[in-house]
Amino acid sequence: MTDAVSYARNGEIAVITVDSPPVNALSAAVRQGLVTAMERFAADDAQAAVLCCAGRTFIAGADISEFGKPPQPPLLPEVIGLIEAASRPVIAALHGTVLGGGLEVALGAHGRVALAGTRLGLPEVTLGLLPGAGGTQRLPRLTGLESAVDLITSGRQISAEDALGLGLIDTVAEGGDPCAAGIAEARHWIAEGRGPRPVSALPAPAIDVPALPALRAKVEKAAKGQPAPLRAFDTIIGGMALPLAEGMALERAAFVDLMASPERAALIHAFFAERAAARPPTDAKPRPVARIGVVGGGTMGQGIAASALSAGLDVTLIERDPAAADRAAKGIAAMQDGAVKRGKLTAAARERMLAEQFRTAAGLDALSEVDLVIEAVFEAMDVKRAVFADLDRICRPGAILATNTSYLDLNAIAAATSRPQDVIGLHFFSPANVMRLLEIVVADATAEDVTSTAFALAKRMGKIAVRSGVCDGFIGNRMLSAYRTAADHAVLDGASPYDVDRAITGFGFAMGPYQVGDLAGLDIGYANRRRLDASRDPRERPPIFADRLVEAGRLGRKSGGGYYRYDAEAPNGRPDPEAEAIIDASRPPKPGLDADQIRARYMAAMVNEGAKILDEGIAARPGDIDAVLLHGYGFPRHKGGPMHWADAYGLERIAQDIRSYAQDDPYFWQLSPLLARLADSGGRFADLDRKDTA
Ligand code: 3HC
Ligand code: NAI
Repeated sequence: MTDAVSYARNGEIAVITVDSPPVNALSAAVRQGLVTAMERFAADDAQAAVLCCAGRTFIAGADISEFGKPPQPPLLPEVIGLIEAASRPVIAALHGTVLGGGLEVALGAHGRVALAGTRLGLPEVTLGLLPGAGGTQRLPRLTGLESAVDLITSGRQISAEDALGLGLIDTVAEGGDPCAAGIAEARHWIAEGRGPRPVSALPAPAIDVPALPALRAKVEKAAKGQPAPLRAFDTIIGGMALPLAEGMALERAAFVDLMASPERAALIHAFFAERAAARPPTDAKPRPVARIGVVGGGTMGQGIAASALSAGLDVTLIERDPAAADRAAKGIAAMQDGAVKRGKLTAAARERMLAEQFRTAAGLDALSEVDLVIEAVFEAMDVKRAVFADLDRICRPGAILATNTSYLDLNAIAAATSRPQDVIGLHFFSPANVMRLLEIVVADATAEDVTSTAFALAKRMGKIAVRSGVCDGFIGNRMLSAYRTAADHAVLDGASPYDVDRAITGFGFAMGPYQVGDLAGLDIGYANRRRLDASRDPRERPPIFADRLVEAGRLGRKSGGGYYRYDAEAPNGRPDPEAEAIIDASRPPKPGLDADQIRARYMAAMVNEGAKILDEGIAARPGDIDAVLLHGYGFPRHKGGPMHWADAYGLERIAQDIRSYAQDDPYFWQLSPLLARLADSGGRFADLDRKDTA
């Protein structure tokens, strides 16, 4: 026995308990412990065994931190084979999140009981893998082919009730202790004289061969170019015509191949990067937060309030007058309706939440007792400073004053108060009740316990927190500004916006920069450029083509046309010769750029700015930058984020490109000293991640 797995008797039942915090992942110690426990069960006179877990969850999967290293025996398929081969029934008692290898262990058992509230899934494809311990072969034998294909190729989780409906588990037990539920189920089996029932002995489901191409095409479409889902599909189908052992060999070969893929490396990097980013950078004890105030009930204030309510917080929302407060309350109620429709909230919980946890007021006086305020008024320094001066006067000592500003200098906002140590930035993304990213902006004077409170609040609200220092646009919007400029330069250099969008969506972004521009409205950027005209450096190359479009009344989707034309036939837009003519007339003719050249510039600008942000200490780790781009800006997850992508692509190539672009435009293309150093020394951003986390 290892410390991670214990063996005990409860009367005639053997109880095998995995206890390996935090999530009972299948480390080498757990695998070895399970082997030893099964050997002991074989030599024991117990009539059945229960396999259960201590702590918050049943086994949540293979130990991801072992991936990419040489595999340590015993391998998981062998461990599961031992469980399945037991001569007396083995019952898996499930709770928490039964995922990946954890569900495969459960499939190796002869019976499965789950506590209500348990979530089950095979999320391997979300890590660039497929189930590698029999999941592709055993699951279809229990649930039928279509459900197994759906679960395995999507990686989605299902509830215990849905799992029962699919035949994946035998019983849902109400609440209580999972091991006790397992023992009750085992006694039931013994009373009924049931023997072991190995899933692998069940017949493989029949395959509707003519329907396969359509099913495969559906999987291929959803996979968006990632190899794992299709490989999983082929493995499931291929295995169904074979005896289990051969199907398992097929699965293992696919698992080993995918383990070596760049997508797997990128997706696992993303998994750990977002968790490392969300770890508070300080041990200071967070201040308690139960009641919060939200100032400003516009787009962001509403989303923030809805998200806070769903996290169980008490929310007071302040608007300028009762009519605006009413509008905001209606908007929040509508958002919570959406949450009910998506199954995230029950109708009763929505009613209770709005009646008991939520109120609006006009005027800040209602915030005298709250623990934390999030300001989301207009993006103007004088307006924000006035609000913060009032909050300073009204809020109780120790209350945290946060701003949702996108760009403004947090130190200047903090200076409007007598308590800059209590001021912090909480930069939510729109729509704030849906988007998971939260940049936590730490100002010069922010107290450590204010920072740790912000990280704790993010976790409670289900957000992925990333610490940022103070600079114009923080991590994300500062990066965005750099790569948007590179896109505009590509158009100034002869590319069409459609070329740019195609190149960028071809890389894996859901939308290109000009599709996004049309969606947001081109008038916003136009107004911003007019504001900056007087202070613009003569070496800048502003996008005059964008100005010409706005001046021609093309404001984007809302006016029926911007870069694209929108009508009933093309609600998502189609290239428009009229827009092209306006753009062509605004610039001297140039040969243009191909997709590779466009992408190389776009990515070089992104990575170069990321390197500057790191060098200046605005971001603590390259992985933090990756987490921001993945969760706030649509960077394709299977490429891991810009800094991970850069390591894989080659820093030397990027630095070389930037040096050559700088010959034409030395003002924009200023190579980051950090990027230059790494490129010249053969270093990688990942080395900096490791140094920081070591
Ligand atoms: N291996 C190693 N560490 C893991 C892990 C795993 N499978 N799952 C979670 N962890 C670690 C996290 O890194 C984190 O560590 P930290 O505290 O040092 O940052 C800690 O456990 C807690 O994780 P979360 O912060 O994510 O906790 P939550 O409660 O929010 O979520 C969870 C728990 C739902 C289990 C979530 O962590 C999760 O989804 N984990 C991944 C599950 C997964 O993908 N399993 C399949 C693995 S692949 C596989 O099994 C292959 C097989 O087919 C052979
Ligand atoms: P908005 O214009 O939709 O809402 C602002 C609201 O604040 C208005 O309803 C207004 O009536 C109210 N308000 C103004 N002064 C007030 C005062 N003194 N007291 C109470 N209420 C007041 O603006 P939006 O888009 O919600 O932005 C708010 C903040 O969030 C800005 O700082 C913005 O930069 C930031 N932000 C915006 C994002 C977006 O995508 N819209 C994303 C992330 C941050």
